[in-house]
Amino acid sequence: MHVDEPQSSEKRGTDVVHVGLLGYGNVGVAFTRLIDSQVEAIALRIGHELRVTRIAVRDVAKPRPDSALSDAGERLSGDAASLVDDPSIDVIVELIGGIEPARSLVLAALAAGKPVVTANKELLATFGAELLSAAENGGVDLFYEASVAGAIPLVRLLNDSLAGERIVRVMGIVNGTTNYMLTSMSEEGCDYAVALSEAQALGYAEADPTADVEGFDARAKAAILAGIAFDADVVASDVYTEGITAIGASDIAFAHKLGYVVKLLAVAERVSDGPAPAVAVRVHPAMVPREHPLASVRGAFNAVFVEGDTAGELMVYGRGAGGMATASAVLGDVVAAAHHLSEETRGRAVRREQVEVRPISELRTQYYLTLDVKDQPGVLAAVARVFGEHHVSIRSMEQIGLGGGARLVFITHTALEADVQATLTSLAGLDVVARVGVLLRVIGPER
Ligand code: HSE
Repeated sequence: MHVDEPQSSEKRGTDVVHVGLLGYGNVGVAFTRLIDSQVEAIALRIGHELRVTRIAVRDVAKPRPDSALSDAGERLSGDAASLVDDPSIDVIVELIGGIEPARSLVLAALAAGKPVVTANKELLATFGAELLSAAENGGVDLFYEASVAGAIPLVRLLNDSLAGERIVRVMGIVNGTTNYMLTSMSEEGCDYAVALSEAQALGYAEADPTADVEGFDARAKAAILAGIAFDADVVASDVYTEGITAIGASDIAFAHKLGYVVKLLAVAERVSDGPAPAVAVRVHPAMVPREHPLASVRGAFNAVFVEGDTAGELMVYGRGAGGMATASAVLGDVVAAAHHLSEETRGRAVRREQVEVRPISELRTQYYLTLDVKDQPGVLAAVARVFGEHHVSIRSMEQIGLGGGARLVFITHTALEADVQATLTSLAGLDVVARVGVLLRVIGPER
């Protein structure tokens, strides 16, 4: 590491760690402010003085609010590659987001033997194995705590605290926007459109909410979680994904009546070990039993529930988004990088093995599904026959609404997803079925 001549503000013996920051958006500004405003307090806590020495931006001339810069103006550069090459920079923090130029810059830094801290979930969920192997080859650390579940120390938990644990399943609420919306729909009884407007007004949901409500954000995080939990090379496109757009207030109310809360879950499961390891990874809305710890996660909060062979069940909870919360996770990683540099060590080597990712059609669980039907004699018999033909056993059925508004709500016994999907396809072809509605998978054993 670079150890500067002590300056007036530096205590003799305190190493100065120079950070090169790539990207100066919401999180970059928060991270710079956090370090600038607490430089001495952080130095006292960690024994290293952290400085954001250079900041790479796309457009140096772009007007920026003074409050976002303080004296950062002199630190700005339009040439990100020059920060990576700068021998006076000890650690690279990548907060550009997206694939390029982030990927090339991170690879260049790792190849140059410089530790990298990134919050880039898209990059990790697409090129995680490549980046980790580049870190291995460069003999340096790649930290990515902020790429999943913001301020929650989840990567560290799985990578370090539970490093020796055989993880069986990781199940998380990893998207705050959709959890906020589902909470509003559950607690205020409002419909999807109202919940979305509320989330947009509060700044949780973007003007174009697709990435959140269609589950794409959670999909990237599910891939990263599966990678860490199972040392598996899982990418976002491996993850079966459904969002929350089809869910109505009536589904949530019905689930509530049955003792469940509806949550958008990212689930990663170990299916088999040994010479042909296999995992299952998926994102979809699910009915979570009210007594399950994930059911109590309200609003924009995130939580991840982990099941290990010897540790049993545990859960971490916190803020998954927001500039400051994310900056806190970045800071934690920079501190770890600083320690490793001063001790001339690095974190344990992690690998990403090729695994089989099992298709959703192999899932076995209980299902909730709704059908809008004609309200006339023989409809229930016709519908029930279709379930039977596809080996799906009905556990309970209720009709809500009458006449033109008749809806049948089913809960199945545990069934195979492939059979349930075949049932839905056949039901959609029945004259008496006006619309096949929502399908929700039910978490936990039958009760
Ligand atoms: N949009 C995400 C969320 C945060 O709502 O949780 C960024 O990953």
